[in-house]
Amino acid sequence: MKKSLGAKTLAYPTPVWLVGTYDTEGKPNIMTAAWAGICCSKPPSVAVSLRKATYSYGNIVARQALTINIPSEKQVKEADYVGIASGRDVDKFAKTGFTPVDSDLVDAPYVKECPLILECRLLHTLEIGLHTLFVGEILDVKADLDVLGDSGLPDIEKVKPIIFGPEIRAYHGIGPYLGQAFAIGKDL
Ligand SMILES: Cc1cc2nc3c(=O)[nH]c(=O)nc-3n(C[C@H](O)[C@H](O)[C@H](O)COP(=O)(O)O)c2cc1C
Repeated sequence: MKKSLGAKTLAYPTPVWLVGTYDTEGKPNIMTAAWAGICCSKPPSVAVSLRKATYSYGNIVARQALTINIPSEKQVKEADYVGIASGRDVDKFAKTGFTPVDSDLVDAPYVKECPLILECRLLHTLEIGLHTLFVGEILDVKADLDVLGDSGLPDIEKVKPIIFGPEIRAYHGIGPYLGQAFAIGKDL
C-alpha cells in the first residue's frame, strides 16, 4: 500500500552541485544547487534551476556562463554554507577557503578544491515558476588526477559526491556498487 504525500519536490536523491559564477564586477561566487542534473547527451548539457532572488541568477544572465563544481563528502560543510549565505553579502570563496580559478573556456570561475568540474556556456533559459531553469552546454570537464579510475574516467567512489534528500534536507554519501549499467539487466 502507498500513502499519497501530495505535490512535493520529493524525488530522491538529487545532486549537490556548486554553481560558480562571476558578478558584474568580476567577483567570483558559488552557490549550492540541488535542483539540477544532466539533461542532454548531444550537446552534453546540464540543467540547473535557480530562483531569481539568488545573486547567482543575475550573474548567469549577465555572463552567459557557469561552472558546475562537484564537491566531495569532506566538503559537505562548505557545500552547505554556500547554500545558506549569499554572494551579495559575503565573499564565499574567502569564507570557505575555496580557491576560484578562472576558466579559460567560459566566463565563470571554478573551485580548485572540488574534484570534478564542468565548464558550461548558457544555452537556454526557461522560466518555470519560482525557479528558472538554465541549460548549460558542457564545454569541458576537468577532474583531479587522484579521482580517476583505471578507465581514465572519474571513479565515483573516489569522487565521493554528496547526495541530497529534498524535503528531509539531508545529505548522504553514495552507497555500495550494485552492478554495471546496460549489462546487469540482461540477466533477466
Ligand atoms: C542543499 C541545498 C540545495 C539548494 N538548491 C538550490 C537550488 O537548486 N536552486 C536555488 O535557487 N537555490 C538552492 N539553494 C539555495 C541557494 O544555494 C541559496 O539561496 C544561496 O544563498 C544563493 O547564493 P547566492 O545568493 O550567492 O547566489 C540550495 C541550498 C542548499 C543548502
